[in-house]
Amino acid sequence: MAFTHEKIETNSWLMVVLILLVVAVGGLVEIVPLFFQRSTTQAIEGVKPLTVLQLAGRDIYLREGCYNCHSQMIRPFRAETLRYGPYSVAGEFVFDHPFQWGSKRTGPDLHRVGGRYSDEWHRLHMNNPRDVVPESNMPGYPWLQKTAIFADEMPARMRALRRVGVPYSDEEINGAADAIRGKTELDALIAYLQSLGLARK
Ligand code: HEC
Repeated sequence: MAFTHEKIETNSWLMVVLILLVVAVGGLVEIVPLFFQRSTTQAIEGVKPLTVLQLAGRDIYLREGCYNCHSQMIRPFRAETLRYGPYSVAGEFVFDHPFQWGSKRTGPDLHRVGGRYSDEWHRLHMNNPRDVVPESNMPGYPWLQKTAIFADEMPARMRALRRVGVPYSDEEINGAADAIRGKTELDALIAYLQSLGLARK
């Protein structure tokens, strides 16, 4: 009997095995080259690892779950670039572990928010968003300005990031705790927000 497609369609296990094979080959062909392409593995000009203060702010961004309402990924569509600025490219994220792309936009995308507002605007906004945007439904984070950063944890966090490829020097790591001692969590979060997306503004 000649081999017909009917054989695959009437044998679910054969079908499952062949589907897995096709998906695996297709996936490898698409994914593997990305590990070796300059455009996805090299930082574009102007992208630097976060400073100690910015990194502490990034960790507060994660802790508070800001990514549940904000993406950091501007798609290459006119409606997005008109609103947010130049679309995001892979070379802007090479030092991010983990990526903060997100997928939920209750609030606006934040990838190019760096430099859009003054530090003072962010201070008021983070404390109580309705003081500056009356219709906002973003929660306030009033405790951030009253809480000091755990400065002594920063060297260990930077060492961990260095292990996955962020080029922090020994000097930066050893001086990390002293560099930000006395700063509040709000100072750090604002420093982080102000650093976002500047390379392609
Ligand atoms: C429940 C959803 C929600 C959460 C959680 C949230 N936001 Fe927002 N955010 C919004 C909304 C909605 C807006 C738009 C209104 C406004 O500006 O307040 C906004 C606006 C902003 C803006 C101004 C952006 C712009 O381009 O105008 C910044 C900056 C911001 N959020 C930062 C944060 C940070 C940092 C956190 C975490 C500490 C956070 N947000 C958590 C919903 C949220």
